[in-house]
Amino acid sequence: MIYLKLFGLTLLFSLVSTFSTPIPANYTVFWYQQKVDHFNYINNDTFQQRVIISTDHWCTDGCPIFFYAGNEGDVFSFANNTGFMWENAPRFKAMVIFAEHRYYGESLPYGDKSFASLDKLGFLSVEQALADFAELIQEIKVSYPAARKSPVVMFGGSYGGMLAAWFRIKYPHLIVGALAASAPILQFPGLYDCNGYNSIVTKSFRSYSEQCYLSIKNSWDAIQRVGSNGAGLRWISDNFNLCKPLSNSSDLNDFSSWLQDTFGSLAMIDYPNPADFLEPLPAYPIGVLCSKLPDSTKQDKPLLVDLYQAISVYYNYSGQRSCFDYRDNSEGGRLGGDGWGFQSCTEMVLPICSTLNDSMFPQATWDLSQVKADCVKTYGVAPEESKALWLFGGENIASASNIIFSNGARDPWSAGGVLKNTYAETLIAIIIEGACHHEDLRSTGPNDPIPLIRARQREIIIIKDWIDKYYQAINHWPAEWSRDSNLI
Ligand SMILES: *[C@@H]1O[C@H](CO)[C@@H](O)[C@H](O)[C@H]1NC(C)=O
Ligand SMILES: *[C@@H]1O[C@H](CO)[C@@H](O)[C@H](O)[C@H]1NC(C)=O
Ligand SMILES: *[C@@H]1O[C@H](CO)[C@@H](O)[C@H](O)[C@H]1NC(C)=O
Ligand SMILES: *[C@@H]1O[C@H](CO)[C@@H](O)[C@H](O)[C@H]1NC(C)=O
Ligand SMILES: *[C@@H]1O[C@H](CO)[C@@H](O)[C@H](O)[C@H]1NC(C)=O
Ligand SMILES: *[C@@H]1O[C@H](CO)[C@@H](O)[C@H](O)[C@H]1NC(C)=O
Repeated sequence: MIYLKLFGLTLLFSLVSTFSTPIPANYTVFWYQQKVDHFNYINNDTFQQRVIISTDHWCTDGCPIFFYAGNEGDVFSFANNTGFMWENAPRFKAMVIFAEHRYYGESLPYGDKSFASLDKLGFLSVEQALADFAELIQEIKVSYPAARKSPVVMFGGSYGGMLAAWFRIKYPHLIVGALAASAPILQFPGLYDCNGYNSIVTKSFRSYSEQCYLSIKNSWDAIQRVGSNGAGLRWISDNFNLCKPLSNSSDLNDFSSWLQDTFGSLAMIDYPNPADFLEPLPAYPIGVLCSKLPDSTKQDKPLLVDLYQAISVYYNYSGQRSCFDYRDNSEGGRLGGDGWGFQSCTEMVLPICSTLNDSMFPQATWDLSQVKADCVKTYGVAPEESKALWLFGGENIASASNIIFSNGARDPWSAGGVLKNTYAETLIAIIIEGACHHEDLRSTGPNDPIPLIRARQREIIIIKDWIDKYYQAINHWPAEWSRDSNLI
């Protein structure tokens, strides 16, 4: 099986309705006729790209445009989870745009045939997606004459953050800067210790309790021992209320992977605010989960009963789930077709392994030749593991400018993030103590810790500065724009 990490998106998807707030503005959805292939003149095909636009607060005199670089999913899930842009649009008098990434959500170049064969799927690449955004920005400047002088600030989280940073590197004339939140642009072979991700997950659980950490660490062998025969597989299926019973060791491994992914995702979303919009979920869910794992020395079955209680915090906090589906987040899963699987088999080769003794996860190596073999078998393509590095520079980004790389210190993906300020003067790393996956992009909440509040304030000041410098350079100040940084 290919070790693909999906930025926890499959799980985030099932939780999006839980954690997100509805879009707090009037918006329209517009469909932009986009080229399937930006890089040759043979293929004339086009498709409809979905874009959310809100002009509620925009002053029509060249005021800024906030542009979200859509990542691997339905664009509404990002619009629902990026309160930072919506909340700051009024003070910046900004137009707000969320662009859907090709091959995700409803922006499918060849409809339901998009994933059917390589001659259709082959147009899924970072370069094409960035070119989509570039064309779209041009289009907006044409269709809204008052936007001709508008500075565009790009935002993105996770893979979207990588896109935002890379967009500024490739198209610096189209945007004044990018806020790249939790963007692991250094998580590529050769630059990155593949244990980074799982080390941070482990540390996060361990910080709540040693017994919790040890219980999870011990549970993998317990699962294998209990599930080593038919009666044991039935016992696990019954005690975990699985929708589909486990029938062999390959099912058992899938079940185990599902649990591992669940813990990884939880480390991404261990947010300080309870989610009580549609379904309740506690603040700092890992803390609640860990309270169900008090004793790591229990025998196998009692330990697994505790483990069931623990994951129920995540999957069944409201008591509404009738069964657990361990296939829910299998590869590709319910995501837009199999887009991420393909991307991780072409350009987005992000190694993840677990080879340290104190890892809370089972030992797992990252084997590029195995990954390649699996990718060839599944998609007929082999990963180009160094492509992202020569295409975008890896650590050689000294010629870039105006990018904020923000990372939550507890976010597992921060392991591949830009954490140093030394690359160039205006490449600014902000490490947010205690924060998780692109937490700064989320709506403000009552429990926001001070470091998170400070990080957002700093980001706002930096973005304001980019915009001021831009207006100065073109010598145009929108009548409604305040040059006073205290007013922002
Ligand atoms: C976005 O939020 C709205 C309102 O809460 C909800 O109806 C919709 O399903 C959400 N969309 C996604 C993709 O999460
Ligand atoms: C939507 O637009 C109407 C009319 O301009 C305005 O009254 C309302 O406050 C807007 N809604 C939001 C959520 O901004
Ligand atoms: C592409 O479109 C142009 C202009 O409409 C047309 O002249 C040309 O023949 C088309 N090319 C192909 C390969 O369809
Ligand atoms: C294991 O069982 C599942 C059904 O639960 C089946 O789809 C799969 O092919 C089986 N795998 C092996 C290796 O027998
Ligand atoms: C979810 O919780 C309810 C209420 O406690 C329980 O009846 C149900 O079996 C639980 N679902 C699962 C999948 O365990
Ligand atoms: C892991 O544990 C083994 C045996 O306990 C030990 O020999 C080895 O040095 C440890 N490795 C690391 C990286 O700590």
